[in-house]
Amino acid sequence: MSAYISQSEKQTRAVATQLAQELRPGDIINLIGDLGAGKTTFVKGLAAGLKITPEAVSSPTFVLMNIYETNPPIYHFDLYRLEGTEDMRQMGFDEFFYGEGIAVIEWAERLGELMPPAYLKIEIAHQGESERAITISGVGERFEQIADHMQTWMTA
Ligand SMILES: Nc1ncnc2c1ncn2[C@@H]1O[C@H](COP(=O)(O)OP(=O)(O)O)[C@@H](O)[C@H]1O
Ligand SMILES: [Mg+2]
Repeated sequence: MSAYISQSEKQTRAVATQLAQELRPGDIINLIGDLGAGKTTFVKGLAAGLKITPEAVSSPTFVLMNIYETNPPIYHFDLYRLEGTEDMRQMGFDEFFYGEGIAVIEWAERLGELMPPAYLKIEIAHQGESERAITISGVGERFEQIADHMQTWMTA
């Protein structure tokens, strides 16, 4: 599996907008990458693919999760400030992970024991000022398949 090299915010959004076509309710997207890598940018691309304006997307840094009225809805988590998993349990995260919408999770590595059994993993790594390496992989059959489709699209 090779990385896709994005040269701009626009290209990163385009990958996400393409991915949106593959998604259905109950899907989980884990976003991994350091501050400024482009995780929130990626969510803007997903939102655009599901027909809402990317301006509606902002990182839910103080509330754990934002909901966007896309079809299906996007549940946008940002776990940067998460300490332990108690807050996630209290907010009833599983209704959003395994529910009617698409869960997109920034800093998903902080889920610990709440890590879902199957998910799509998007890793975004800084390569330079505006260059990013995007790697997509899947855990579980459905997400492996989506990763394959995206790999084909990204190398076309
Ligand atoms: N190729 C690229 N892909 C994504 N973002 C990029 C790229 N090049 C520059 N950027 C900039 O990097 C920043 C990424 O911010 P953001 O998406 O909020 O990151 P994160 O959510 O990972 O902290 C934005 O200011 C964006 O304009
Ligand atoms: Mg962010």
